[in-house]
Amino acid sequence: MSSKRELIISKIRDGVVIDHIPAGRALLVLRLLGISGREGFRVALVMNVESRKLGTKDIVKIEGRELTKDELNLVALVAPTATVNIIRDYEVVSKFKVAIPDVIEGLLKCKNPRCITNQQREPVRSRFHVVSREPLKLVCEYCGTMHELSDIEKYFGLA
Ligand code: CTP
Ligand code: ZN
Repeated sequence: MSSKRELIISKIRDGVVIDHIPAGRALLVLRLLGISGREGFRVALVMNVESRKLGTKDIVKIEGRELTKDELNLVALVAPTATVNIIRDYEVVSKFKVAIPDVIEGLLKCKNPRCITNQQREPVRSRFHVVSREPLKLVCEYCGTMHELSDIEKYFGLA
């Protein structure tokens, strides 16, 4: 790459870099990780930059934070192309692709207000089966309601 066209984004010392996020999804990724910016750790967000693999992509860099298995599953749902890089002392010590699991348990809410998972008395833990990955389709195990990406965006307060 010629230096003229290079994009300068600081490297991080310790933390996680979520790369190859589909363009425009970085805010959603931050939302589902519960990151508001008020936590105090350094966060870098890059949107709509050139990518050889994807055309354009977003990148999220989070200093001093790791991702749980549940968080990785949520990231996979909205950013199935993402690569997760674990950084220690400026070096990439681990790099892996996210993978959409077959079942998503307890992380999302069914949009059907009458669903047993939304009853106040004896709430049942939500459970969705991934029936399509592209485009994303999740079906509620209890009421059969189909959910797609836009439902996840709404759940996290976007769209
Ligand atoms: N990165 C960072 N801080 C570091 C090390 C890496 O922010 N201390 C970022 C890089 O900017 C890049 C990502 O982590 O966005 C992955 O780094 P690296 O594996 O060095 O880059 P590539 O080889 O380009 O990655 P890939 O092959 O996955 O595209
Ligand atoms: Zn349901």
